[in-house]
Amino acid sequence: MDAADVGADFGRVLKTQAELDQRLEELAQQIDQDYAGRELLLVGVLKGAVMVMADLSRRLHSKVTMDWMAVSSYGSGTKSSGVVRILKDLDTDIHGRDVLIVEDVVDSGLTLSWLLANLRSRGARSVEVAAMLRKPAAAKVDVDVRYVGFDIPNEFVVGYGLDFAEHYRNLPFVGTLAPQAYE
Ligand code: PRP
Repeated sequence: MDAADVGADFGRVLKTQAELDQRLEELAQQIDQDYAGRELLLVGVLKGAVMVMADLSRRLHSKVTMDWMAVSSYGSGTKSSGVVRILKDLDTDIHGRDVLIVEDVVDSGLTLSWLLANLRSRGARSVEVAAMLRKPAAAKVDVDVRYVGFDIPNEFVVGYGLDFAEHYRNLPFVGTLAPQAYE
């Protein structure tokens, strides 16, 4: 899928496929270094993290295992409640493990903040975060994200796993939509 397929609803490209690729390579090198000699468990948060997980993991030279969680980011109502419900839990016992949560975007930080506390309470040896995108201006809680792809403005973005009404996750870049698409 590309911008032409989105048509009039398309805004602009924020991060090209080449920029994402290059940054992922840098992050992978850093992760390989930081976890040398340890076996990392990558935990992808469905569904947005599918692309980052696929591309980041393939750049790692370390031996890793993968697992997935699905959470409903919020209870009914507003995105600010901070209520997180587990829709699919890990298949893995993470006690004593080095865990790296893989996310597409950190927006308010509420999902991650909850996830970090939840996974740490299971006795993991370490729990860190790799997120492709972060919106500092949208932060409601302070979350320590060890590996960040890019800080981006607080705009509605789609592509590379991120959706609008479940669409556009399969754009290979990160872009914005024209306001009329979502207003
Ligand atoms: C997105 C994203 C994070 C969360 C970030 O997931 O993947 O999990 O929102 O937002 P926050 O920092 O404000 O908590 P979403 O709930 O849209 O589900 P999806 O991954 O299935 O698209």
